[in-house]
Amino acid sequence: MTAALTREPRRVGAIADRLDGILAGRGIDPSTVAAEEPQAEPVTALELADARIPARYRRALADYPQVIAWADEIARAGRPGPGGPGIAEGPSLLIAGPTGTGKTYQAYGAVRTLLGRGVRLRWEATTSADLHARLRPRAGHDAERDLQTLVRCPLLLLDDLGAAKTSEWTEELTYRLINHRYEHTLPTLITTNLPTAELRTALGDRVASRLAEMTERVILTGPDRRRTAPAA
Ligand SMILES: Nc1ncnc2c1ncn2[C@@H]1O[C@H](COP(=O)(O)OP(=O)(O)OP(=O)(O)O)[C@@H](O)[C@H]1O
Ligand SMILES: [Mg+2]
Repeated sequence: MTAALTREPRRVGAIADRLDGILAGRGIDPSTVAAEEPQAEPVTALELADARIPARYRRALADYPQVIAWADEIARAGRPGPGGPGIAEGPSLLIAGPTGTGKTYQAYGAVRTLLGRGVRLRWEATTSADLHARLRPRAGHDAERDLQTLVRCPLLLLDDLGAAKTSEWTEELTYRLINHRYEHTLPTLITTNLPTAELRTALGDRVASRLAEMTERVILTGPDRRRTAPAA
């Protein structure tokens, strides 16, 4: 799928100059040839999204069958629209597992899978620690508006749920976020280091109960890939 946006055609300086020289040598005015060049190359939705994905996950591929199945389900449920199917209501996905097993990689891989399938996506991503920092009340900042942007976003990636220190305030924030997405069945990709049995203690019963109903689950296992992979 291609998005409506385009970028300026690229002319590589030295090559363009050489080409102009060759054309002039053959009695052809280079400016008339340049006028016939395509004015713009289309930019795919995936290319646009790549700019928003952190560099480390920009080539992530969802390769866990449950993650691929989730992306398929969301893509199939998409509402038809002029630029391709739009994301609709659907299940959420909880990706759990120890540090470094590839949870964030699979989550961005899922976003890239949807974009690659031509699903029109408005998506946001945040870690829970960043979410707390971003929404902490401070003068001149409308935290409620920021929260609503994330709460209502058609697809939200909530990374590292349960990893940040909690307080009554953070618990309430997480509850409001999860509860809205639960009530409106908005697809949410959640990653966590917490084993299922500890979700309730760490997040509170109200959040854990909603997650139990709204999410499909995939548990990643294996070694910490950061310690086993050759340095990038
Ligand atoms: N399937 C994969 N193929 C290639 N590289 C991978 C794959 N999965 C993960 N990686 C790489 O392994 C490293 C760790 O992955 P990632 O950050 O997703 O782990 P994580 O489970 O989210 O860890 P944490 O719990 O600390 O957040 C990253 O460099 C990531 O790019
Ligand atoms: Mg991670």
